[in-house]
Amino acid sequence: MCGIIGYVGPRQSQDILLSGLSRLEYRGYDSAGIAVIDGDGGLGMRKRAGKLAVLRDDLASTPLADGTTGIGHTRWATHGGPTDANAHPHLADDDKLAVIHNGIIENFAELKSELIGEGVTFRSETDTEVAAAMIGREYSRTGDLVSAFRAVVSRLEGAYTLLAMHKDHPGLVVGARRNSPLVIGLGEGENFLGSDVAAFVEHTRKALAIGQDEIVAITPEGVEVTDFSGAPVEVEAFEVTWDASAAEKGGWSSFMAKEVSEEPEAVANTVRGRIHEGRVEIPELDGMDEFLADIDRILVIACGTAAYAGMVGKYALETWTRVPVDVELAHEFRYRDPVLSPRTLVVSISQSGETMDTLMAVKYARSRGAKTLSICNTQGATIPRESDAIVYTHAGPEVAVASTKAFVAQITALYLLALHVGRVRGAIDPVAAVDAVTELEAIPGKIARVLETEQGRIEQLAHWMADTRSVLFLGRNVGYPIALEGALKLKELAYIHAEGFAAGELKHGPIALIEPGQPVFVVVPSPRGSGEMHKKVVSNIEEIRARGARVIAIAEEGDVAVLPAADEVLRIPLAAPLFEPLLAVVPLHIFAMGLAEAKGLDVDQPRNLAKSVTVE
Ligand code: M6R
Repeated sequence: MCGIIGYVGPRQSQDILLSGLSRLEYRGYDSAGIAVIDGDGGLGMRKRAGKLAVLRDDLASTPLADGTTGIGHTRWATHGGPTDANAHPHLADDDKLAVIHNGIIENFAELKSELIGEGVTFRSETDTEVAAAMIGREYSRTGDLVSAFRAVVSRLEGAYTLLAMHKDHPGLVVGARRNSPLVIGLGEGENFLGSDVAAFVEHTRKALAIGQDEIVAITPEGVEVTDFSGAPVEVEAFEVTWDASAAEKGGWSSFMAKEVSEEPEAVANTVRGRIHEGRVEIPELDGMDEFLADIDRILVIACGTAAYAGMVGKYALETWTRVPVDVELAHEFRYRDPVLSPRTLVVSISQSGETMDTLMAVKYARSRGAKTLSICNTQGATIPRESDAIVYTHAGPEVAVASTKAFVAQITALYLLALHVGRVRGAIDPVAAVDAVTELEAIPGKIARVLETEQGRIEQLAHWMADTRSVLFLGRNVGYPIALEGALKLKELAYIHAEGFAAGELKHGPIALIEPGQPVFVVVPSPRGSGEMHKKVVSNIEEIRARGARVIAIAEEGDVAVLPAADEVLRIPLAAPLFEPLLAVVPLHIFAMGLAEAKGLDVDQPRNLAKSVTVE
């Protein structure tokens, strides 16, 4: 859950490392550090607790000596709190070797005792320093950094990406990965390593994906990849489809604000190229028709917001494919004995493609004979590479920790998948399929309308509610996961108590929470879909209002039935019921962002969180 970068080439590395780290900061931001081999063959290192800006200021006032080989790290603490001492890099071999690490070395305590027994002393509480000491010990025996890595990785358990450089080898950075991300960026006379392509995309869009259990050595002239036993391996090349400007704030107050504004585009780009003559055909699924026609169950696995996208997708998948669908949190799925068969399609959803819980669940499902399909937003990430099939979302880079545009893109991808599978199985009526495509194509314009007409009002509301201590969210049917998403966003961004409930569940307990003044957002289903469901939700509003709740309804334009019951009504354009979540979630994203901003909080980097959770 950290960001790492390595550079070798002709240029001064400090600026390259710092700007790469600024793009990786979403992965962790409680401390940062860099190490550089300088022109005189010395090894300089600086690391600081706090955000990258603290390190940047420190280096600006007391720079390290220039050098063209370097590594950099931005941390999300696992072993040892966020202090200067625990920040990376960690040094070994009489401070000639610098090591950075992402992941968790599970057997570090046992290895540390062994090293302490040999007289090694430690300056931090981290597992990383143990790996550094081991690499240093091996290196001092052979003088060969790659073989030192090879000897050490065979003893490490857990998940890790390690990068190291030694002052005796300027122009060389060595890395290893196991269950943790690492990609190579190929430049002209220079090469890069990064947790993801964001680390180097401003310098090159040519990338190579490194597989599991592989070791890479980069020099300015080339790249060598071997497996853990030393055998050379072929690596898969890919071109990054977005450029550095896509990952810049571009004048917005925060990445989150920019990404919410990109929700229409995220949907449009995910649909693009997947509709042919009015029907959904996902080219990536070519050749899978026979399997898809025969599946008897779909299991969706994901975490957090991605799991809520899965819950929305379930309604569309069941409606259009007539295949039973279960949605499960990846970390819960993995540690039981699930029933899977070769006719089960396991669909994983992940923006980053690196969420460890989801990755392990995918591997587990595969090992139990199921076919896996990854819905992912990040090219070359581990989860798609470990899956049988991939449907990329094209939301573009999402930097803010809170997932927004990726959420609507994930729902879109699930809808496309449902329409594709429904067609292959002959389960969806062709007229209904055409109607669904028409609806989907209209969604970007409708989201844009919500942003245009409601954003200002919602921000105002959030401002008025800045002192609110608790907010509840209710929804029914496809509105239920949206209520959960609204609550999650508010918790993670504004640090206040927020709960999402299925509206029908209210009378089974949660209504006891209602007291005078309690704000409750209610996602109201369209009266044009199921009039009965609409009436029930309006009754729920009346029930909570009678007990003093302050109701903020999200309802479609023209729904007048909500007016007498609600204190505020936020309007969304008319859409077929299955498509309403793509619109109803937008006010909730804006609200959470607005409330956090009103409280003066950092919406891009909320406390205790990281964008990509690469530890279990
Ligand atoms: O990268 P992923 O989509 O796999 O991430 C899953 C969750 O960690 C993520 O959605 C998280 O819940 C977000 N911070 C929510 O905004």
